Amino acid sequence: MSFPAERPRRLRRTEAIRRLVRETELNPGDLIQPLFAVPGKGVRREIPSLVGQFHLSPDELAKEAKRIATAGVPGVILFGLPERKDETGSEAYKGTGVVQRAIKAIKDAVPGLLVITDVCLCEYTSHGHCGVVKNGNVDNDATLELLAKTAVSHVRAGADMVAPSDMMDGRVGAIRRALDETGYSETVILSYTVKYASAFYGPFREAAGSTPQFGDRRGYQMDVANSDEALREAALDIAEGADILMVKPALPCLDIISRVKREFHRPTAAYQVSGEYAMLEAAAERGSLERQRAILETLTAIKRAGADFILTYYATEATEKML
Ligand code: PBG
Repeated sequence: MSFPAERPRRLRRTEAIRRLVRETELNPGDLIQPLFAVPGKGVRREIPSLVGQFHLSPDELAKEAKRIATAGVPGVILFGLPERKDETGSEAYKGTGVVQRAIKAIKDAVPGLLVITDVCLCEYTSHGHCGVVKNGNVDNDATLELLAKTAVSHVRAGADMVAPSDMMDGRVGAIRRALDETGYSETVILSYTVKYASAFYGPFREAAGSTPQFGDRRGYQMDVANSDEALREAALDIAEGADILMVKPALPCLDIISRVKREFHRPTAAYQVSGEYAMLEAAAERGSLERQRAILETLTAIKRAGADFILTYYATEATEKML
């Protein structure tokens, strides 16, 4: 009689056995919550393109931060919607800017919660591009100085980590230098190392009012078709002083997360972006899939691919109710 020499099903028979041999574990400490800061007081407005997420004024952010910390989430990443936009995004690096005020409010309320800030100009520029526009083109080197100023002003306000998301060449180095020169050599740089020109940022751009007013971001964000280029970006970021490498979006880039992790053995993060969230929410809303299981499956898959931690709009809910 012939029989299979190997029977993988033996190890799948009960939950107790499955737990023993499980290779990937999603932990409460693995998820970072993105938050949107807006000016004002007592503002808590649901974001139409990201139902379940809110525009929050600094005082409301402080309350939210307490809830997030109590749930066991280790940190947040902040985005800001300024009062005014201009050509050079000057509210991004103003000491009293909305993100700077939000950082202070959160740190006063919950000093132990990690505050990461997104460093970019697109939410602050009138044209919606991630840098300074000269002759219809985003000028790389003129942008670096403003990004460095933005990062320093965030850290001055109390940020623990800065996360440049603009994709200008040399920005990690420029930010590292500026931080070191101002006495912040211990501040971590979480670099959006591999950031694709993805269709999955749509709901975020609506939420942040950062859709480019002309053209698109393909002149600075990466071509979705490229993978070797991701490794070149990672090598550059490491050379410039990035502490953590991030890949974005997450689910469409599991191969990239895996390659970056295997090649460089560095702390690696992934960003489950707004379009991924919107896609899951829409499908769950229609009853096409089981919401909680689908959320956990995507997060587990992102970790299995090699991410050490994940930025996700599900961070608080998942940590509170699912893990
Ligand atoms: C800013 C920035 C974006 C996201 C994070 N930082 C938008 C973009 O590049 O257009 C996207 C986040 C999301 O979609 O959830 N440059």
